[in-house]
Amino acid sequence: MCGIVGYTGRRQAAEFLLSGLAALEYRGYDSAGIEVVSPSGNLHGVKCAGRVSVLAERCRTANPVGTTGIAHTRWATHGAPTDRNAHPHLDCSGRIAIVHNGIIENFQELRAYLSRAGHKIASDTDSEVIAHLVEDAWEGPARGSLVDALRNACQRLEGSYAIALECADAPGQIAVARRGSPLVLASTEDGAYAASDVTPLAAVSSHVIQLEDDQFALLREDGSISVFDSEGLLVESPTRLDIDWDASAATLGGYADFMAKEMAEQPEAIERLLKDRLDEHGIRLDELSMTGEELAGIDRVYLVACGTSYHVGLIARELIEQWAGIPVFCEYASELNYKEPLVTEHTLCVVITQSGETADTLTAARRMRALGCRVFAVTNVLGSTAARESDGTLYVQAGPEICVCSTKAYTAQMVACALLALRLAFSAGKMGHAEVERHFRNLEALPDLIREVLRRSWQGKRAAALFRRASSALFLGRGVNSTTAYEGALKLKEVSYLHAEAYPAGEMKHGPIALLEPGFPVVAIVPADHVHEKTLSNIQEVIARGASCVAVATDGDEAVASLCEHTLWIPPVPEEMLVPIVAIVHLQLLARYVARARGCDVDKPRNLAKSVTVE
Ligand code: G6P
Repeated sequence: MCGIVGYTGRRQAAEFLLSGLAALEYRGYDSAGIEVVSPSGNLHGVKCAGRVSVLAERCRTANPVGTTGIAHTRWATHGAPTDRNAHPHLDCSGRIAIVHNGIIENFQELRAYLSRAGHKIASDTDSEVIAHLVEDAWEGPARGSLVDALRNACQRLEGSYAIALECADAPGQIAVARRGSPLVLASTEDGAYAASDVTPLAAVSSHVIQLEDDQFALLREDGSISVFDSEGLLVESPTRLDIDWDASAATLGGYADFMAKEMAEQPEAIERLLKDRLDEHGIRLDELSMTGEELAGIDRVYLVACGTSYHVGLIARELIEQWAGIPVFCEYASELNYKEPLVTEHTLCVVITQSGETADTLTAARRMRALGCRVFAVTNVLGSTAARESDGTLYVQAGPEICVCSTKAYTAQMVACALLALRLAFSAGKMGHAEVERHFRNLEALPDLIREVLRRSWQGKRAAALFRRASSALFLGRGVNSTTAYEGALKLKEVSYLHAEAYPAGEMKHGPIALLEPGFPVVAIVPADHVHEKTLSNIQEVIARGASCVAVATDGDEAVASLCEHTLWIPPVPEEMLVPIVAIVHLQLLARYVARARGCDVDKPRNLAKSVTVE
C-alpha cells in the first residue's frame, strides 16, 4: 500500500508533492510526510499521523521551501500509524531521506545488522532500514552517485518496493527504484516527477515512463530522467505510456465526494467500453490475442479476483456458463494461492482487478501462468502490473477511480466480462452472429437504464432513514442477484461501518432468519425475473417477523411495493442476466446515503485502502 511522489525542478516542490499525495491518498491515509532539500542545503521535513489535509495544514506553518522533495501517504503495515513511523525516513546523519511503498521482508535481519554496525533506528517500520543502507553505500562504495547508492542498498533488500531517495549532498536529484510496487515518472520542462501511479502526473504530462522491476532512475532538476538496469547500465528505451486521462478526471468537478462522482460516471464508462465492439465476427476483442480456434478450444475458465472484483467474477461465471457453456471456477485470489487449481492445457485464467496491483491477485496470476494457463487481465489502470504480466488485457476504461469503494469499475468490469462471455460463446459455436448482436444491443441499453436509476436517487435517500440507528442489515437476492446482494452488503459495510451480510434468499431460513426482529432492516433484490415469486415468498417471511424490508424491484411491481416499507425502482431491463448491472446502482446510492447520515467519510473509509498491495 502507500503512495509516493517525488519532484525536482523549478517549482516549489511542496506544491506538487501535497497535491500529488492528495491524488494518491486512496492508497493509504493514516499518516503522511514530506521532506524537501532546503536552499540552505539541509533537509526540511514535516510529517504526522492523519490525513494529507493534516499534513498540508502543518506545512502552512512549517513552510518547507525547496525545489527538490519526496513525500508519502501511508497505510500502516509495520508499526502503528504515528508521527514517528510516518515517512520520509532519514539516515543517522539526517541528510538522506527515503519514501517506500511495499514490504521489506528481511527488515528484522537488516535492523539487527544495522544496529550492530552502530546505526540508530528511530521508527518501528520495515522501510527505515533502506535509509541506513543507503547511508552506508553513500559513505562507502557509491559516494557521489545517488543511483549507485540506492542500487547498492537494494541488493540487500528482500520483498517489494518502490523507493524515492533524496540527499542533501546531492541537491537537484532524486533516485528511484522499483521491484513489485508501481512507479511512473514524467520528464517535463518544469522538472522531473515520480509517482506511484499516473493520477498525480496527468496534470503535468500526457505521457510517462513506466519503471520496470529492478530498474532504477535518476531524476534531475532540468527535467531529464535516466533509467538504469540492475547492473547500472543505461536503459536506452524505457517503457513509455500515453496517459489518456485528463487531469480533471481526478478532481471532484463540483460533486460532494468521489463516490457520488464515480457513480454518476457509470453510464459514460459503459458507453466507452462498448464503442466499436460489434463486428462481422461477433464481438471484437483483439485484446485477448487468441485465435478463434484457440478460443474454441478453451475447456474451462478460472476467474480470480478480490473484493468487489470477486463479485464481478461471480456474475461473469454465470454469463460464461450460460452463454458459452464453458465450466467456470470463480476463486478469491487469496484462497486460490493456497490450493491446487484444476488446470488443463486449455484453461483460460481471467484476473479481474480494478487497480491491477492487488498482491493476492498478482500472485495467483503468476501461479496460473506458471501452471501453463493463458492469463487475461480485466483491469482499469493503464500499465498496471496485472496488465503488464498478462497475455492479454482488456482495459475497462472507467477512468481513475479515487473513492476507495469501487462503483464505476464494478459495473464496467461486469460489462467487460459480458463481452468476453459473448466472444467465447461465438467461438464455441454456442451463439450465431444474430444472437450475439441481440445480447450486445441489450448491453447498449444499460447506460440509459443506469441514468434512470441515478435520477431516482431520492428513493435511496428516503430509505436510508431505516438504517440510521440499525446495528446490522441483511441483504437477500436469488440467482445472479444473490451477487447483487453480496455487493450491496459490501458497499454498505465499507462506507457506513454498519454490519451487513448477504445470503441467497432461499438460504435465509437456514440461519439468518434468526436475526429478524421488529425493525431489523432487510434489503431484498426482487426484479421481474424467473425467480420473482420465490423471492417474494422470502419477503413475506421477513415481513411476518416484523422486519423492515427495502426492495429493489421492477417498475409496476405492486405486489412488492405493498409489502415493503421502501421500494427502489428499476426500469425494466431487457435481459435477466444484466439486471445486476442496473440494480447495484440503487444499492451504491443507498450505501452512500446511509454513510452520510451516519457521518462517515465515504471516500476514505477507516482501515481500507484502494489497492491492497500486501498479501
Ligand atoms: C480493496 C478495495 C476494494 C477492491 C479490492 C480489490 O479491498 O478497497 O474496493 O474491490 O481491493 O481491488 P482490485 O484493484 O484488485 O480490483
